[in-house]
Amino acid sequence: MSTNSLFTPFNLKTLNLKNRIVMAPMTRSFSPNGVPTDEVAAYYQKRAEGEVGLLLSEGTVINRPSSSNDANVPHFYGDQALIGWKRVIDEVHTAGGKMGPQIWHMGIMDNHQSGWIPPVPFEGPSGLNRPGFSNGTTMTTKDIENTILAFGQAAADAKRLGFDCIEIHGAHDYLIDQFFWEATNLRTDSYGGKTLADRTRFAVEVIKEIRKQVGEDFAIIIRLSQFKPSDYNFKLAKTPQEMEAWLSPLVDAGVDILHCSQRRFWEPEFEENDLNFAGWAKKITGKPTITVGSVGLSSDFFGAFAGESSQPTSLDELTRRLDRGDFDLVAVGRPLLSDPNWVTKIKSGKMDQLVGFSKEALGELVLV
Ligand SMILES: Cc1cc2nc3c(=O)[nH]c(=O)nc-3n(C[C@H](O)[C@H](O)[C@H](O)COP(=O)(O)O)c2cc1C
Repeated sequence: MSTNSLFTPFNLKTLNLKNRIVMAPMTRSFSPNGVPTDEVAAYYQKRAEGEVGLLLSEGTVINRPSSSNDANVPHFYGDQALIGWKRVIDEVHTAGGKMGPQIWHMGIMDNHQSGWIPPVPFEGPSGLNRPGFSNGTTMTTKDIENTILAFGQAAADAKRLGFDCIEIHGAHDYLIDQFFWEATNLRTDSYGGKTLADRTRFAVEVIKEIRKQVGEDFAIIIRLSQFKPSDYNFKLAKTPQEMEAWLSPLVDAGVDILHCSQRRFWEPEFEENDLNFAGWAKKITGKPTITVGSVGLSSDFFGAFAGESSQPTSLDELTRRLDRGDFDLVAVGRPLLSDPNWVTKIKSGKMDQLVGFSKEALGELVLV
C-alpha cells in the first residue's frame, strides 16, 4: 500500500508542514539542572534533517517550584534553559524543520528513582496521583491562578524564541489530567465537579491564557489520553457524548489541534465503529487531530519501559485510516528516538533498513 498520503503538506494558521509525520514528545532526561545541552539541540536537529514534518519536544516544565520530579527534565523558564531552547529551534529551522515545545506540569508524582526531590512538595488538584496515592499538597486558588499564568508565560516565550506552535501536555495523569480525573480531583470549588465537563475548567483557563499570550494565528495543540499509566484500560470519556462534553470546551477555549494519545492506534475507542480516539475526536469537534501509538512497531510503549524491544511492521492500516480522513497527522515516538532517518527511509521505500526499537536507545541521544 502507498505511503503517499503521509507525504502531503499540512497547513493550519502559521503552521506549514511538509508532511504528516510528527515526532511524538519523549522525555529523555538529558538536560542537567533543566538546561537543554548542545547534544539535545543536535538530537532534534538530526530529526529535522531527517524530514520529520513537525517535532514536538520532550515534556518541558513551566515555572512552578514543583512542576518536575526529575532534575534532568528540561525547564521552559529561566535564562539558561531558554538559551538552550533557542539553540534547539534555530538548529531545527536551519535544517528545514518545524517544532513546538510540549509544555508540562507533572502535578502530583511518585518521587524519582534518582532520589532528587523538588524544593517544595508536589502540587495537584487534591494531592493525589491515583486512588489511594497522595504525595503532595492540594492547590489553593492562588496556586491555580499562578500556574495558569506560568503556562501562559511559557507559551509566550515559545513564540518569542521562534517556535512554530506549542503543545499543552494534558494527558497521562499529569497535572491537567489530574484535574480531569474524578479520582484525583476531589475539589468542591469550581475547579472540581461531578461531571467531566465540570472538571475541564482548569484546562480551559490554561488554554485561554495561552491564547491570550500567543494571539490568534499561533497553533495550539493539546495532548489528551483516555488511559492512565496506572490503568491502561481506563476511559475518562465512557461514551461519545461524554467525549463531546470533554472536548468541546477545550476547542471553544482556543485549541487548534487535538493530539489523541493511545498505546495502539488501531484500537477502536467505542463499540459503534472502528474509529480510534483521534478519529472520534475529529468527528466530534471537526478539528484536526493527531494519532499516535505503535505506528510501524510490533509492541507498545509501556513494553518499552519494561525493557521490551520492537520490530518494524507495516504502515498499511495507518494509511488506510489516514486516507479515510480519520485524522490529519501521525505522531511517531520510539522509531524516531532510535533512528533520525526513519522518515526518509519510509519516503524512499527502504523498509528493509528500518531498525525498530531497542531498549538500549533509551540510554543515549541517538544522533546517527
Ligand atoms: C522514552 C519515552 C518518553 C516519553 N515521554 C513523553 C512525554 O514527555 N510526553 C508525552 O506526552 N508522552 C511521552 N511519551 C509517550 C510518547 O509520546 C508516545 O505517545 C508513545 O511512545 C507511543 O508512541 P510510539 O508507540 O510511536 O512510541 C514517551 C514515550 C517514551 C517511549
